[in-house]
Amino acid sequence: MTNIFAVVLAAGQGTRMKSKLYKVLHPVCGKPMVEHVIDNIQSLNIEKIVTVVGHGAQMVKEKLGDKSEYVLQAEQLGTAHAVQQAEPILSSLEGTTLVVCGDTPLIRPETMQALFDYHTSQNAKATILTAVAGDPTGYGRILRDAEGNVAQIVEQKDATEEQKLVTEINTGTYCFDNKALFQALKLVNNNNAQGEYYLPDVIEILQKQGEIVSAFVTDHFDETLGVNDRFALSQAEQLMRAQINEKHMRNGVTIINPATTHISADAVIGADTVLQPGCIIEGKTRIGEDCVIGPNSHIVDSLIGNATTIHSSVILNSSVGDATAVGPFAHLRPDSSLGNHVKIGNFVEVKKSKLGDHSKVSHLSYIGDAEVGENVNIGCGSITVNYDGKNKFKTVIEDDVFVGCNSNLVAPVTLGEGSFIAAGSTVTKDVPSDALAIARARQENKLGYVSKLNLK
Ligand code: UD1
Ligand code: CA
Repeated sequence: MTNIFAVVLAAGQGTRMKSKLYKVLHPVCGKPMVEHVIDNIQSLNIEKIVTVVGHGAQMVKEKLGDKSEYVLQAEQLGTAHAVQQAEPILSSLEGTTLVVCGDTPLIRPETMQALFDYHTSQNAKATILTAVAGDPTGYGRILRDAEGNVAQIVEQKDATEEQKLVTEINTGTYCFDNKALFQALKLVNNNNAQGEYYLPDVIEILQKQGEIVSAFVTDHFDETLGVNDRFALSQAEQLMRAQINEKHMRNGVTIINPATTHISADAVIGADTVLQPGCIIEGKTRIGEDCVIGPNSHIVDSLIGNATTIHSSVILNSSVGDATAVGPFAHLRPDSSLGNHVKIGNFVEVKKSKLGDHSKVSHLSYIGDAEVGENVNIGCGSITVNYDGKNKFKTVIEDDVFVGCNSNLVAPVTLGEGSFIAAGSTVTKDVPSDALAIARARQENKLGYVSKLNLK
């Protein structure tokens, strides 16, 4: 949209969080609050987004990257002072400016759009997004005059007992005529309980100048939650989790128990996939169609194909093909890649390894730094011995290899195509293609030896 700008307020320390982490970087459903705000604004196609940073400026900028421009508020003197920092970038422009707090991660783009549309339809110089709260404690209250027009916003700490009874609250999201905003900001003072320059005071200033000031009341109070402390953070998490789960269910994903299913905001899941209770799906994970993601699985930044089953397993930064089975109790560590029709069974750990189609590691194995071909069978208890205490080495297992149970494959080592490793071998040398390798002490049976010992 042309001539529409946004200012995101993200300079506060967030004292009430009692945290070493700056407030707006606290994650909700796996993503920093302020990034939710920016992503939501970005989906409106706004011309310029300016984020006001202060506490943790460097970290906030690193997180958001080029999704926004930045201005520094070196001292946090209040929300009006914060917006004022955007003056060099915005004040000469004609247009509309949306101001959003970095601690309101739930406000949907649709609601911001509705606010903007209402603001435009009213020909207003300022429009506040308000909501009616069950418990308005902590929020600025909207004071209306006898005709019902917005006159003023009073902060909790400045409110009289009577004003505190007002349940219509300021969500901290506004649309302003850009030029009127920067002119009014110059007139804001800090004569209030907190000694801060309050952005909401702009409303009263414009109203007293005879400008049109309006309020758009959203029905969705839940969306407008401002996260000031850990309790609100947990509420935001719960609300967003419900929103995300609902989106997936409406897209054809079965979620057996949404209350215990955690899906990050950026995860993608195909239709007819079933999520059983206790799953945690984080980051930019993509799961295909027709999968079953079993109870208590934890999947982070991974790609899962179609018709794959993951059962009570942990998968980190890895990819899993189609019709593959993982678990129960398997652990795929970063940079692992499984082909199609692969089986990784219980108590198997895979690290930085590639397994080709139709290969199987069914029980109790460690596969690290390995390249495993297609149709390979790795028997129970076999491990790649990839580490000598100092360096890591690679194991190559070519197609159609059979590794007998309890083998140690001491890397660097290559098992040639179609080779066969006898159970219990400690393989230290390459095995040629089609060869049988036996690397273990030969069994000797001493006949009658036990009775000679006269133990009984
Ligand atoms: C603010 C509003 C209140 C509203 C509520 C909605 C003011 C004075 N009050 O209160 O009317 O009901 O939001 O959630 O605006 N920030 C800066 N620089 C500063 C101060 C704050 O960037 O100097 C940022 C914070 O990082 C935060 C946002 O502005 O993201 C809001 O500040 P916060 O202190 O949380 O304001 P509230 O007390 O919640
Ligand atoms: Ca707040």
